[in-house]
Amino acid sequence: MMKLTLADLSALKHQHQKITMITAYDAPSARFADASGIDVILVGDSAAMTVFGYEQTTAITLEDMLLLTRAARRGTSRALLIGDMPFGSVQVSDADTVSNAVRFVKEASVDAVKIEGAGPMVRRIGAVIDSGIPVVGHIGLTPQSVNQLGGFKPQGRTAAAAERLLDEAAALERAGCVAIVLEAIPQLVAASITKALTIPTIGIGAGVDCDGQVLVWHDVLGLGGPEFKAPKFVKQYADLGHEIVKALEAYIADVQSGRFPEAKHTYAMPEDERQEFETHRHK
Ligand code: KIV
Repeated sequence: MMKLTLADLSALKHQHQKITMITAYDAPSARFADASGIDVILVGDSAAMTVFGYEQTTAITLEDMLLLTRAARRGTSRALLIGDMPFGSVQVSDADTVSNAVRFVKEASVDAVKIEGAGPMVRRIGAVIDSGIPVVGHIGLTPQSVNQLGGFKPQGRTAAAAERLLDEAAALERAGCVAIVLEAIPQLVAASITKALTIPTIGIGAGVDCDGQVLVWHDVLGLGGPEFKAPKFVKQYADLGHEIVKALEAYIADVQSGRFPEAKHTYAMPEDERQEFETHRHK
């Protein structure tokens, strides 16, 4: 199985073939994603919400992200692996951001890091790229800035905001990003950005015209939990949460009724040892 490269990603755009990306946060999930033939595995900071149960992504730490990314690396062979730089790891200075990005490469062998934002972040992203680490940009709804954006809301819905997004995307391309995630923006705006750029766009809630699509593992597989309400842009492809509850109910019923464990789940002693053991016990 040939490992994909960032050059393959760019080739997919130019061959008009769609790029597929999914998040994963541990080794077995990454192994399943890899086996499915997905192009890119993103260890997203959405793990703050999906794995750690926070309300926002800002709480997850660099150490948390590195732990999850190292685990996903062990499950990934063919797909590209991208590590998401969490809030706090890119805010302090260019030098601090570069050394945090270096940790993703050295400790988790990522193919690229993802960094949210444009504007003042473009120079910082440039510093990471200049250090030799490929960067995927992320604009539109950038969850690390959810407080500034006034909630998890679609972006770029006025003509002026749409123009700003086009400028941001162009600036990220000029800075040397290898791809850009476009989150929760109108299809028309995503289509214009995709046409204007030579690097691939990966949409989430950005319509069908992007060069690829990304979704969150728990959303795709129905693992958000009974209270979870998925955003409008999610398509759920399986209801594994329901399957998990059914399986656990069956396990509980088997344990309570004594149907589990059966003989085949049980270890026996060699006959001579058993006899000796029984004899001593009855002395
Ligand atoms: O953190 C994440 O999972 C992401 C994707 C939704 C693009 O940034």
